Amino acid sequence: MGTYLKLFVMVLGMAGCLVFVDCAANGTASFFRPPYTRNACGRKHTGTLIAVAGNSTWEKGRTCGRKYSVQCIGAINHAPHPCKPVKVVVEIVDHCPHCHETLSLSEDAFAKIANVDAGIVKIEYSE
Ligand SMILES: *[C@@H]1O[C@H](CO)[C@@H](O)[C@H](O)[C@H]1NC(C)=O
Ligand SMILES: *[C@@H]1O[C@H](CO)[C@@H](O)[C@H](O)[C@H]1NC(C)=O
Repeated sequence: MGTYLKLFVMVLGMAGCLVFVDCAANGTASFFRPPYTRNACGRKHTGTLIAVAGNSTWEKGRTCGRKYSVQCIGAINHAPHPCKPVKVVVEIVDHCPHCHETLSLSEDAFAKIANVDAGIVKIEYSE
């Protein structure tokens, strides 16, 4: 019994991030303007709710095509109240090697969660 329980807990631990827990992480996001032609992932994407990954989220292309739910959680610069109380789901379509931000969102996506005048905000994101 004890062994099974241990095994169960172990499996639970490994699968935890995928199934049981909302594996959210914090980071920063800026935005880029149209035309949204970036596409290093080489997949056709429709719509304009897309994002390009900074080095930390690119993972050598493993995050290509992944969809992240992104929420603005605070200001980085002096923009007052940059966040809107909604989340947006974006698809990773490209790598942004020069970006210091975790993600750079399309302007359309950024505008859903934050005031574009802020330019860059703190975000919480999860898959
Ligand atoms: C992200 O930051 C917010 C506010 O500072 C905090 O409440 C939250 O727990 C953080 N989330 C993670 C995953 O670190
Ligand atoms: C991202 O990684 C590339 C290649 O390793 C490096 O040249 C670049 O300076 C990094 N970008 C940032 C913002 O650190």
